[in-house]
Amino acid sequence: MTDLLKLTRPDDLHLHLRDGAMLKAVLPSSAAHFARALIMPNLVPPVVTAAQASSYRDRILSALPDDQPFEPLMTLYLTEDTDPNDLSAAFQSGLIRAVKLYPAGATTNSASGVSNFERVRPVLERMADIGCPLCVHGEVTDDAVDIFDREAVFIDRVLDPLRRATPELRVVMEHITTAQGVDYVRANASGLAATITTHHLFLNRNHILVGGIKPHYYCLPVAKREEHRLALRKAATSGDDRFFLGTDSAPHLDHHKESACGCAGCFTALNTMPLLAHVFEEEAALDKLEAFTSLNGAKFYKLPVNQDTLTLEKSQTPVRFAKTVASEEGDVTVFDPRVSIYWQVQNHVL
Ligand code: NCD
Ligand code: ZN
Repeated sequence: MTDLLKLTRPDDLHLHLRDGAMLKAVLPSSAAHFARALIMPNLVPPVVTAAQASSYRDRILSALPDDQPFEPLMTLYLTEDTDPNDLSAAFQSGLIRAVKLYPAGATTNSASGVSNFERVRPVLERMADIGCPLCVHGEVTDDAVDIFDREAVFIDRVLDPLRRATPELRVVMEHITTAQGVDYVRANASGLAATITTHHLFLNRNHILVGGIKPHYYCLPVAKREEHRLALRKAATSGDDRFFLGTDSAPHLDHHKESACGCAGCFTALNTMPLLAHVFEEEAALDKLEAFTSLNGAKFYKLPVNQDTLTLEKSQTPVRFAKTVASEEGDVTVFDPRVSIYWQVQNHVL
């Protein structure tokens, strides 16, 4: 007997697709299951202008497998030199759906991010006026702050003052990893939401470090203690419409991750939906999965709910997912939670 779970087709509201050979290799995994995805702008060089967002969008669409319906929702990368008029025109035309704030140096390709938050105040005010959401990578970059504390400190030092200064600004705390992140969202009224990744529902910091270092579990923000993972699971499976899926699927070539200075990012696009079904079933919340993957994010971004569906099926025996996806430049390891998964997407073809 198989269990079937039919969902409104999901959206991934935080996705790294990269460019060139990598884009070509990883895009089919997302397009096979997701109707839309919010595309992160941290290319090299970053996507900072409307013209760059438009040509990146074209490159994504032309890399799509034939006849595959998939809508890339574009973002701009906020810098201290962002032109509010360019941003505003891009948002009002529907070309971009949000702007991404990376504190300078916080993560992969974030060197052009923001160091002095006062300098972006006029842009943030314009975004508040036009209703353009700000997606925030919420970690301080202060060397004196322990990497496991960087999200909680960011909320106190940067995010809360920023929101008080511009209360109308709509904000998404991206890939929250802490109970403090969950609590901050819960304590605030409308206009604030958070994405949660698939991998942070599986990983605590022991998974990265005990029994040998696991480079494919290293991502930013880094996974925290178990109590934080449990808080994220509770938030994701609660049905609360302020929490929704952003996989942060972030492919890197294996030789860049399995290195003396391995880069951050987990590639989860290919098996995210089965892994989420596993988590929601464990939490006795399969009835909340659709809200998390397909309804809450669309509501926050004021997008129509997708018409199409996606069906997951549960089998008697564990499912084997591809271990890697091949690009012309090398392999990318698919996130493996190292637990048996029984769910798969029906008629999954890549
Ligand atoms: C992301 C990447 O590789 O672009 N890495 C990651 O660990 N999540 C950047 C990011 O979202 O922080
Ligand atoms: Zn990301």
